[in-house]
Amino acid sequence: MPDNSSVIRPTGIRKGLTNYGDTGFALFLRKAFIKGAGYSDDALDRTIIGIANTGSGYNPCHGNAPQLIEAVKRGVMMEGGLAIDFPTISIAESFSAPTSMYLRNLMAMDTEEMIRAQPMDAVVLIGGCDKTVPAQLMGAASANVPMIQLVTGSMLTGGHRGERVGACTDCRRFWGQYRAEEIDQQEISEVNNKLVASVGTCSVMGTASTMACLGEALGIVMPGGATPPAVTSDRIRIAEESGRQAVRNARSGLTPDKILTEKAFENALRILLAIGGSTNGIIHLTGIAGRMGYEIDLEAFDRMSRETPVLVDLKPSGQHYMEDLHRAGGLQSVLRELKPQLHLDAMTVSGRTLGEELEDFPEYKQDVVRSVSNPIYPAGGIAFLKGNLAPDGAIIKQSAANAKLMEHEGRAVVFENSEDMANRIDDPDLDVNADDVLVLKNIGPIGAPGMPEAGYLPIPKKLARQGVKDMVRISDGRMSGTAAGTIVLHVTPEAALGGPLALVQNGDRIRLSVSERCIELKVSDEELATRRSNLVLPKPVDAERGYRRLFYEQMTQADKGCDFEFLRPPQMIARVPAK
Ligand code: FES
Repeated sequence: MPDNSSVIRPTGIRKGLTNYGDTGFALFLRKAFIKGAGYSDDALDRTIIGIANTGSGYNPCHGNAPQLIEAVKRGVMMEGGLAIDFPTISIAESFSAPTSMYLRNLMAMDTEEMIRAQPMDAVVLIGGCDKTVPAQLMGAASANVPMIQLVTGSMLTGGHRGERVGACTDCRRFWGQYRAEEIDQQEISEVNNKLVASVGTCSVMGTASTMACLGEALGIVMPGGATPPAVTSDRIRIAEESGRQAVRNARSGLTPDKILTEKAFENALRILLAIGGSTNGIIHLTGIAGRMGYEIDLEAFDRMSRETPVLVDLKPSGQHYMEDLHRAGGLQSVLRELKPQLHLDAMTVSGRTLGEELEDFPEYKQDVVRSVSNPIYPAGGIAFLKGNLAPDGAIIKQSAANAKLMEHEGRAVVFENSEDMANRIDDPDLDVNADDVLVLKNIGPIGAPGMPEAGYLPIPKKLARQGVKDMVRISDGRMSGTAAGTIVLHVTPEAALGGPLALVQNGDRIRLSVSERCIELKVSDEELATRRSNLVLPKPVDAERGYRRLFYEQMTQADKGCDFEFLRPPQMIARVPAK
C-alpha cells in the first residue's frame, strides 16, 4: 500500500528537498532523475528506508553486505516500503592507516550527514568491523531519524592441525609463539590460512562482537541480532526482519532518542562488564552516549563493575567463540541471567521493551553463558583506575589479566613512542626483567594520532624466549578487544598533552593495585615538577590542513569518548550510570 500518512511534515521522496528556491520544481526534478533508474510513481510514494551500505573490497568483515542488503530490501518490500541503499565510508581494522580510530569520527560525520541529506523515513545501518558500528551509532544518534543497526555477524572459526582457531585472540597467541621461537616459519604461514575461515567480524569477544552485543543491549539492534554468524541463515533472517521493522518504526516515529536513553546506556554498561567485553567498548559507549547528552561516570561504572560478574565464556576472557554464544541463545541468554540488574522497561527497536522481549525468550541448555552464581570471573571485565599517573583515569581488562600481576610494583622500562618501542623492544641489550613495567608514551588520541591498538606491547624477545608470557604494560593507547594480558590502557590525560605519563623515566617505580583501583608513579612531587619544567611536547605531524588538522583541533580524550568536541552537544544533560 502506498503510504500517504503525513501531509504536515514531508516524508519519503518529499523529505529534505534540494534548495532551488522552488519546492515544486525540486520535487519534480528529483523524481525525474530517479525515474531514470526505472522507479514508478507508486514506488516513490512509499515509506523510504535507507540502507547504509558499507560493503568494500577492503573490508572482508563486511563481505556479506550484498546478501544483507538484499534481505533488508525484501523485508522493507514485505511491509510496503521502498528500500534505497547508499554508500558511506567503510573502515576495516587492518586496512586503516594510521589506525581505524583515526577515521571513526569521519565515518560518523559521513553517516550523520548522508542520513540528513537524503530522503529516508528510517535507515538500516549495516556495520560490523570494530569502528563502523560506533561510528554509525554516533552519527545516527545525532541525526535522530528512526534507525536499526544491523551487524554483519561474526566469521566462522577455522582449524589448525586439529585445533580450533579464530581471529584474533589466536592470531596473537600464534604470533607470540613465533616470536618466542616455539613454532617455525612453516607453521606460522600455515596458520595464517586458517585463522579467518569466512567473511564476518572477529570470532571472539573483540571490539566488533562487543559492539554488536552493546547494540542489542542498547535496544538499537533487533533482539537476537547480535550473535548470528555472518554466513548463516539466522543472519539473513535478522536482516529481513530489520527491514520490516524499519518500515514500522518509520511509521510510528520510533526515533533513536526514545531508545538511546539513560536506562539503555546503563543496561549497555552492565552488559559490557558481563560479557568480558573489549576495553574499546567503554570509549565507544562514551562517544555514543555523549551524542545524546549523557556523560559516562567512570567511577560509577567501576562500582557497577564490582557487582557485575563476567558470565560469558568467550575468548579472550574464556574459551569459546561467537558462534558458540549464538548456539547458546546469544545475548538474550546473558540479558535473561542479568534481568534483576537491568532496566526492563527500556524500549527497543522492535517496538517492545527489553522486558517484553525477554519474556518470550526460551531457556537454553548450554555451557557458554554462566549463571550469576557460577561466573567466569567474579567481578566485571573492566576496572577503572586512578592515581598520580592517570589523574583522569585509566582502565584495565581485569578478566583477561594475570592474577599474579594485578598487585605489582616494578621498575619502569620506558619507550617514548611506537617507533622507539619497535626499534628497541627486541634489542638483546635492552635492560629489562620479567618484573619490570613496560611503559609506552605518545600513543594517545592526539599522540599517535588516533590512539592505536598498540597498548598490547609485545613481551621483549629475550624474555619471551625464557617463557615470560605476561608483564605489566602501561600506555595512553588502546588494545584490541581480542588481546589479553595485564595491560593498563587509556591513561588520561595522554602524554602528548603533557599528562604525567610524559614524565616517567627509566628506573622509576610504578605501583599497580587493581584491588585499590590505583596506578601510581612513585616519584616525589618536587621531582615531577622539575621534570615538567623541562618537558618538550611532541609536535603534531602534517597538521597544517585537511582532516588531520580538524582531528588535532577537535579530538577529545578517552574519558570523553574520543569524539570531536564540535560533534558533541553544547551541554550534557545527565551522568550515567545514575548511582
Ligand atoms: Fe574486522 Fe576484527 S578485523 S572485526
